[in-house]
Amino acid sequence: MNALDAMRDAALAGDVARAVGTASLEARLRGLAAHGAVGAGTGGGVARQALCAHELAARRWLVQPFARRPGYRVGIDAAANVFVRRDGQESMLSPAMTGSHIDTQPLGGWLDGAFGVAAGLEVFDALDRLGLRTRRPIDVAMWTNEEGSRFAPGLMGSVAFTAPQRLEAFLGVRDGDGLRFEAARDAAVDDLRAEALREGWRWMDTPLARPVHGYIEAHIEQGPVLEAEGLQVGCVSAIQGVRWFRITVPGRSAHAGTTPLAARDDAQAKAVRTAHALLEHAARCGDDRLRLTIGRWECSPGSINTIAERVVFTVDVRHPEAAALDAVRALIDAALPAGGQLEVLQDKPTVRFDAALAGLAREACAALQLSHREMLSGAFHDAMPLAGFCPSAMLFAPSRGGVSHHPDEDTPIDDLAACTRALAWCLARLAGPLVSSTPPEASKD
Ligand code: GLV
Ligand code: MN
Ligand code: MN
Repeated sequence: MNALDAMRDAALAGDVARAVGTASLEARLRGLAAHGAVGAGTGGGVARQALCAHELAARRWLVQPFARRPGYRVGIDAAANVFVRRDGQESMLSPAMTGSHIDTQPLGGWLDGAFGVAAGLEVFDALDRLGLRTRRPIDVAMWTNEEGSRFAPGLMGSVAFTAPQRLEAFLGVRDGDGLRFEAARDAAVDDLRAEALREGWRWMDTPLARPVHGYIEAHIEQGPVLEAEGLQVGCVSAIQGVRWFRITVPGRSAHAGTTPLAARDDAQAKAVRTAHALLEHAARCGDDRLRLTIGRWECSPGSINTIAERVVFTVDVRHPEAAALDAVRALIDAALPAGGQLEVLQDKPTVRFDAALAGLAREACAALQLSHREMLSGAFHDAMPLAGFCPSAMLFAPSRGGVSHHPDEDTPIDDLAACTRALAWCLARLAGPLVSSTPPEASKD
């Protein structure tokens, strides 16, 4: 591309960014939050775990405005990832892709994941408002089970998309009620296909691991940095490594009142000692980059007057350097009681994003005069597996008080719109050049 074309393309990308509507973005986010809302409005949080009925309804609701619009198509893949495609001038080219997830924690906020999907769809509307077509198609992905709270590990959909050989192992994973991921996946695929048939949607095949030109995901920061520094956008250069462990400690149940302490095999006492060793390490190692969380603790039979016969708990540990994660693993091995069992549920090394795409994100912020900084992500995201598959990067919007995975999760709508504008600019460049076309159909909002 010569310098003149590049200038024209950057100017058009600016037009697309400015066509992003704050009100329509907010309306889409609020409508999405209604699916699984706890209490009135968004204040009570959202309970929309992976592939539950609320998530399936939310997927249909998000897809529906595009599925019959000329120039759009919808598909669902073997991991139940949903894609909305906006056709390009050259539809055989691999797509530029954006997206995120719409599953939540058991009780989560309204923006984690939801923002990235709503932002991508808002970019579609912005392009439609201007009647512009990109050279490449653009896909908005809704990745399955990012959170990992219903089916562990997290990132199942994006991992299966980028490494289809991993899907087989995921299919057998069960949720807390014993339901296999495979059954939930099948129900999700059937649900969307049935709706597509009923409504006459434009459909596309979406094989796993199909080529992607580049992936850029918008997400809330979920931490305090951007807000504290008064910045609008984070350009994410890397995601820190994460390991998930499940530890099972066996014991023998017996009467709480009659069994002498010396005669007990108390699973609870043993598990508490192991957990204590880990928490003490985190508190005393002096490394403020270490994150260590014991998020689930199940004790059976769970009776006040019976000694525990089994404790199962989870450990989530994160750090940018593998050596720090190795040290925690060594500590778990050393502190595991006799007969204890250790399972590794997830092991993801630190991921660095594509330098050119991360550079495009910074360029977008500069062109749109958005205050920004480069940063590391503490949370994992679907962009993590994508980064090993195609050039990838992320954009963050600030989080109020750094709060996330909680009903209080929030971001001022103007900050969400600013981040969406940066996303629009990047997608226009990534999928461009842009050409005028008759608007497929003017957007309603
Ligand atoms: C994602 O939800 C994470 O736990 O980082
Ligand atoms: Mn998320
Ligand atoms: Mn999350």
